[in-house]
Amino acid sequence: MKNEMQIIHSVFELRQRLATEPTVAFVPTMGNLHEGHLDLVRIAREHGRCVVVSIFVNPLQFGPNEDFHKYPRTLQADCEKLQGLADVVFAPAVPEMYPEQQTMFVEPPPVATELCGAFRPGHFRGVATVVMKLFNIVQPQVAVFGKKDYQQLAIIRQMVAQFNLPITIIGAETKRSADGLALSSRNQYLAENERTEAAFMNQMLKGIAQAIKQGERDFARLEQDAMQTLESRGWQVDYVAIRGQQSLLRPEPGEKALVVLAAAKLGMTRLIDNIEVFL
Ligand code: PAF
Repeated sequence: MKNEMQIIHSVFELRQRLATEPTVAFVPTMGNLHEGHLDLVRIAREHGRCVVVSIFVNPLQFGPNEDFHKYPRTLQADCEKLQGLADVVFAPAVPEMYPEQQTMFVEPPPVATELCGAFRPGHFRGVATVVMKLFNIVQPQVAVFGKKDYQQLAIIRQMVAQFNLPITIIGAETKRSADGLALSSRNQYLAENERTEAAFMNQMLKGIAQAIKQGERDFARLEQDAMQTLESRGWQVDYVAIRGQQSLLRPEPGEKALVVLAAAKLGMTRLIDNIEVFL
């Protein structure tokens, strides 16, 4: 990296800064960064001469009963973590991203109302809309998203394909603790006993993946059994679902690229995870 990392708050300045960059690789985030995010930034470095990380807590993707106002804002600590990894941090305030009321939206496909979308109405519309805006502002050649938010990644891929955006989307593997728990900003809210139990979600997903690889095709039963097991261990389950990797719809007979996804609450903390299965 040639220069000091720059922190830019305005769209105008960002566009000036990036005007002469031949290749921009972009990592959109909402801040409160952990090792998982930093991994995405390291991957971005392999794909562009200039690495841009956005830090923006997007009001459009939070429901009225969700934690937009409580979402941790840790810009200074985030920028320290990004030193030496990113070239530019784009950290706009809400009025910079939404100078007028946003009345135009990217309407995602019906699958956005299933899985996490069933529990967070409007969430993926808010995500797709802000990511489209960020893509238009940053104009990257490459953007990196974590596979942990699998549904988000699938919807962004569909958006890029269907709107002919000239951007390569890279899905990065989920970073995990030694016991398999997917890294997430939410893990910090787990009590000690919950933190130990949290690793079970990944073990359970691995078990389902193994069963599918060994020939089990009664997906509904696998999903039901897994949900019952989680409930019996004290989780409040939103879903366990086996889907096709690209469409996120129920797999067609013979479909070879599958993903098992789960979302459940331990105490007050909602965790999500998934595992890809290739047959
Ligand atoms: O994954 C996230 O942090 C957010 O949904 C994103 C992609 C930055 C859009 O606000």
